[in-house]
Amino acid sequence: MITTKKLYIQTFGCQMNVNDSETIVSLLKDLDYEQTDRAAGADLILLNTCCIRAKAEQKVFSELGRLKSLKNGEKKVLLGVGGCIAQQEGERLLKRVPYLDLVFGTHSLHLLQDMVRAAERGERLTRNDFLDPETRLDLFPRKQAAGGVARFVTVIQGCNNFCSYCIVPYVRGREVSRRSGEILQEIRELSETGVKEVTLLGQNVNSYGIRSVDEPSFSDLLRRVAEIDGIERIRFTTSHPKDISPALIECFAELPKLCSHIHLPAQSGSDRVLEGMNRGYTRREYLDRIAALKKSRPDITITGDMIVGFPGETEEDFNETLSLMEEVGFTDLFSFIYSARPETAAAKLPDMLTRKERQDRLDRLQERQHFMTLERNQALLGSIQEVLVEGPSRRGDQVFGRTSGNRIVNIAADPSLIGTIVTVRIVEAFQNSLIGEVI
Ligand code: SAH
Ligand code: SF4
Ligand code: F3S
Repeated sequence: MITTKKLYIQTFGCQMNVNDSETIVSLLKDLDYEQTDRAAGADLILLNTCCIRAKAEQKVFSELGRLKSLKNGEKKVLLGVGGCIAQQEGERLLKRVPYLDLVFGTHSLHLLQDMVRAAERGERLTRNDFLDPETRLDLFPRKQAAGGVARFVTVIQGCNNFCSYCIVPYVRGREVSRRSGEILQEIRELSETGVKEVTLLGQNVNSYGIRSVDEPSFSDLLRRVAEIDGIERIRFTTSHPKDISPALIECFAELPKLCSHIHLPAQSGSDRVLEGMNRGYTRREYLDRIAALKKSRPDITITGDMIVGFPGETEEDFNETLSLMEEVGFTDLFSFIYSARPETAAAKLPDMLTRKERQDRLDRLQERQHFMTLERNQALLGSIQEVLVEGPSRRGDQVFGRTSGNRIVNIAADPSLIGTIVTVRIVEAFQNSLIGEVI
C-alpha cells in the first residue's frame, strides 16, 4: 500500500516564489507528498522565502520560531527552507537553526527530490550553488499541467539590472531566458487542461530573448502566445521601464488577447533619486512611455511600485514622487520604505532620514494612493466589464474574477461560470474590489 505523506508549504515574497512553490508541490508529488493547508500534522514543512526587505526576512524567522514546537512533537517532521533567504544564507542557516533539516536555494529545485529523500534518511543538507545559464536551461524544472483558470508561466529568470537597493540579482542570479519552444509547449498544455489566462513571469520580462540569437524578442513571444487556441487572456509581469520597447507598446494596440493592464514600477519620481537607484531612466522617459502605452491602449490601467526614504531622498524628491503619481494616475501602487540590503550598493550610502520621517512619507503616499484607487474604482460604477471568472469568492456564495484591467470583481453567480468570461455591470466599488451583476 502506498502511504501518502503530507506536505505543508508556506510561500513568502513575489510571484516567482508562488510559481516555484507550485513546481515544488508538483516535484514532491512524485515522492508521494500530498499538499495540505495545515502545518500541524504535516510530514514535511517547507518555507519558500523572501529577503527583499528586512521585514520580509524577519517574518520568515519568526515563522521558523513558531514551527519549532512542531519539530519537538511525537511525530517525525522534516523542516526545510527554500527560496531567496536559503540562497543567500545556505549553510549559515542550517547552523543558525539547529532543528532545520534542509536548505535549498533558488537554483536547486532540480535537486529537491534527492534532498528530501536524504532528509528522510536523517541527513541535514544545504544546496545553494548558482548554475551557469546553459545548465540552468537544461535543468529547468517543469511543473505538471494541473488545470485552473489563470496560471503563471516563467519566461525569464534572474536579473542583471542591479538597481542599487535590490538584492534580487544576488539571490536569483543572472538573467536567463527560457527556451521559447518550451514556453509555448507549456502554454499549449495548460490550455488543453482548461487554462484561459497566462501571466508570463520574470523579474524583467522586457529583456526576454535579447541575449540569444535563437529566441524571439518579448513582443514576438507575445504574438506567438496569442496564437495559441484556448488562451483568451495574456498578462505579463514585471516590466522594467528602461527596457519597454516601442514594439512591446505596439502589442497593446495589436493583440486583443493582451489584457489592458501593465505593472510598471517607477520607484521614484525624482531624477536624482532614480539615478542613485541605478534605474536607467529619467522621470521624463518614464512619463513618455506611459503616454505611449495610453496611446496604444487608451483604457490601459497602470500599477507600479514605489520606494520612499531612499538614502538622500529630500522632501523635494518625495514631492516629485507624489506629483508623478498624479500625472500617471496609477490604479494601484505597492509602496515600501527603503530597506538596506546586504551586498547592495545603496547599503553603503549614508542615510540621514529618521524612521519617523520615512514612515511619514509612506503614510502620505499611501493615503493619496488609497484615495486615487477608490476614485478609479468608483469611476467604473455602471460600466460594462468582461470578467474572467477564476473561482469561488471569499464572500460566501459569490464567484470572483478580474477585469481586463486587473480589477477584482465579486459576482453573485453560479460556480459553473468558473473558467468563462462573463459580461457584468459594475454596481458597487470598494478600495480593493468591485461588485458586478451578470447581464
Ligand atoms: N523586478 C521587479 C521588482 C522586484 S522587487 C522590478 O524591477 O520591478 C519588488 C519591489 O520591491 C520593487 O519594485 C521595489 O519597489 C521593492 N524593493 C526592492 N528592494 C527594496 C528595498 N531594498 N527596500 C524597499 N523596497 C524594495
Ligand atoms: Fe531588483 Fe531592479 Fe532587478 Fe527589479 S530590475 S529585480 S528592482 S535589480
Ligand atoms: Fe523576494 Fe526573492 Fe521575490 S527576494 S521579492 S521572493 S525574487
